[in-house]
Amino acid sequence: MSESTPLIQSQYSYKNDDEEEAAPAPAAARGGRIGSRVRPSMSWVNKALFTITGLILFCAFLYLPYYFTPKAISLSKIANVQTLYTEFDDPFKRLIFVGDIHGNYMEFTKLLHKVKYNSELDKLVVLGDFVTKGPDSIKTLDYLVKHNVQCIMGNHEFETLKFYTQFHHLDAPTFSNTDSANKYKFLPASITQDITFNDDFRLAKKLQPEHVKYINSCPVILHFPKLEIVAVHGGLRPDLTLAEQDPLDNLDMRALIGPFFNETTDDPHTPNSVRWYKLYNKADGAVPANNIVYYGHDAGKGLNLRKFTKGLDSGCNKGKKLSAMIVTGEKRKNGKIELLEELVQVQC
Ligand SMILES: *[C@@H]1O[C@H](CO)[C@@H](O)[C@H](O)[C@H]1NC(C)=O
Repeated sequence: MSESTPLIQSQYSYKNDDEEEAAPAPAAARGGRIGSRVRPSMSWVNKALFTITGLILFCAFLYLPYYFTPKAISLSKIANVQTLYTEFDDPFKRLIFVGDIHGNYMEFTKLLHKVKYNSELDKLVVLGDFVTKGPDSIKTLDYLVKHNVQCIMGNHEFETLKFYTQFHHLDAPTFSNTDSANKYKFLPASITQDITFNDDFRLAKKLQPEHVKYINSCPVILHFPKLEIVAVHGGLRPDLTLAEQDPLDNLDMRALIGPFFNETTDDPHTPNSVRWYKLYNKADGAVPANNIVYYGHDAGKGLNLRKFTKGLDSGCNKGKKLSAMIVTGEKRKNGKIELLEELVQVQC
């Protein structure tokens, strides 16, 4: 307080300037410099201004999170199985499957450049887990929405939808297959955990309606019956038809648990478990019906190409590679289509 300005000090030199505002101005100062007379009332005005500004800031602070919270939309049912009766040359020439992108937008665009992606001639299919973990989930989503890219639901998209509905107090996601819709009751348990640093939750809060609509539109299983191709994120149970599959298994499975192998687990170290693709290939494509399966989810195994199963999660988010499989077909004399594959990768 003793550090007042020299001007004031010279005019109020008779007193200890602790009581500067309360003390009446000396006669000598009256009619003197405007500054000295106005100063006490300025302080009062300042206080009022200060309070009002504070109130405005406080209200803004309270309101701001709502201002930045995107508008909420409720979900429609997630398709367990989506069927596309399209084939090569009708309407696309190439099918391009891309493994788990995890928000690595830069590598994704690099890969698309490398495969010379042409949205008019190619059908691009992202095999789930295209968001979270990596740096650019929203950018990736914007691209996928804008180019109307075909997606497959991954476990992270599904988790993000669950968090989205919890955050906005909406009904939890369900599947179009009514059995599954009734079978699964999603516990709000996850919201009670410490989810502040959960990537799926942080993304869920940022999603704009067009992002939500897009993720919500991704089927769990995509089936091209004419090409005998299936795309799924986690895997398939070889003992069930596509319609009988349990979507939560398809999103998250890595292995099947013995002795009956009719139960799945995401943890391949589970005792008595065998990676699902081993049994699927052993069944020699018998069930589910001769389909070649393109999938992701298993970065632990990395690129994993077998006769009937094609694992394309090559660990981009772990600094490894992002993979695309370009699939084209040649019609044989017997009317069967022989699939031709070309693998293209970029370093992450
Ligand atoms: C698996 O198959 C066995 C034998 O058929 C049966 O007893 C069991 O209930 C099945 N488990 C599941 C989860 O379907």
